[in-house]
Amino acid sequence: MKKAVLALALVAALGSLVLAASYRTFDEIVKSGKVIVGTEGEFPPFNYFDEQNNLVGFDIDIGNALVEKLGLKGEWKAQPFDTLLIALNQGRFDFVVASHTITPERSKAVDFTKPYYCTGNLIVSKPGGPKSLADLKGKVVGVQVGTSYYDFVVEKAPGVKEVKTFPTNPNALEALLSGRVDAWVTDQFTALEVVKKRGVSLQLSGLLNKEEIGIPVAKGNQGLLRALNMALDLIQADGTYAQISMKWFGKDIRCR
Ligand code: ARG
Repeated sequence: MKKAVLALALVAALGSLVLAASYRTFDEIVKSGKVIVGTEGEFPPFNYFDEQNNLVGFDIDIGNALVEKLGLKGEWKAQPFDTLLIALNQGRFDFVVASHTITPERSKAVDFTKPYYCTGNLIVSKPGGPKSLADLKGKVVGVQVGTSYYDFVVEKAPGVKEVKTFPTNPNALEALLSGRVDAWVTDQFTALEVVKKRGVSLQLSGLLNKEEIGIPVAKGNQGLLRALNMALDLIQADGTYAQISMKWFGKDIRCR
């Protein structure tokens, strides 16, 4: 009997070990001299590949500025958005800069820094299409898979006909342009980028909510979290952040 209980306890302990996040502590990262940063690379203007196939964007500049403040070398790894947090907890990267909204659900799985910018969602449609949550009733809405946009539409627009998910945010835009969805719900800055860069005639709703965007580390990696929060304070105080934000948006997008 006692043995059985012991065996069960052992299985439980091993099970939690397997589920626990694996990560490098800040000391281990510093000793190695190099920090590995994860992102997606399909989310302009925050993280994307330019024509020369360089990883660029606001997230990339912020990530590089943080790495520099920590006195480290950085290496980026890009992979699909909906795989990033799992890979982070498996130790594939030390942290991720991919415009993750800080949500209670995600905060159970990973730990977030203070927000590095604040933003909000809006609805994008063709002229004459839906431009309010009420207008979405009976419509087909496109969103990127695994994003806060999906939850937002499901929670705030209960009358929608269907929410279609796409692997990337640009895929959802293409679906809107080709008429496979009636509306696209996305971040305000990604929508403005499309209007600016592609010159397509699309209508944007007003801002529908407020989202705080943070940098996730593996669950429990407190040392790295502290270091990143400190580096974030530093780049916000010394003008580095403002310069990066001006470059991409013509204004400062930090939370206020
Ligand atoms: N902020 C939204 C979220 O956290 C969208 C992030 C999308 N990021 C990306 N790299 N595609 O769900």
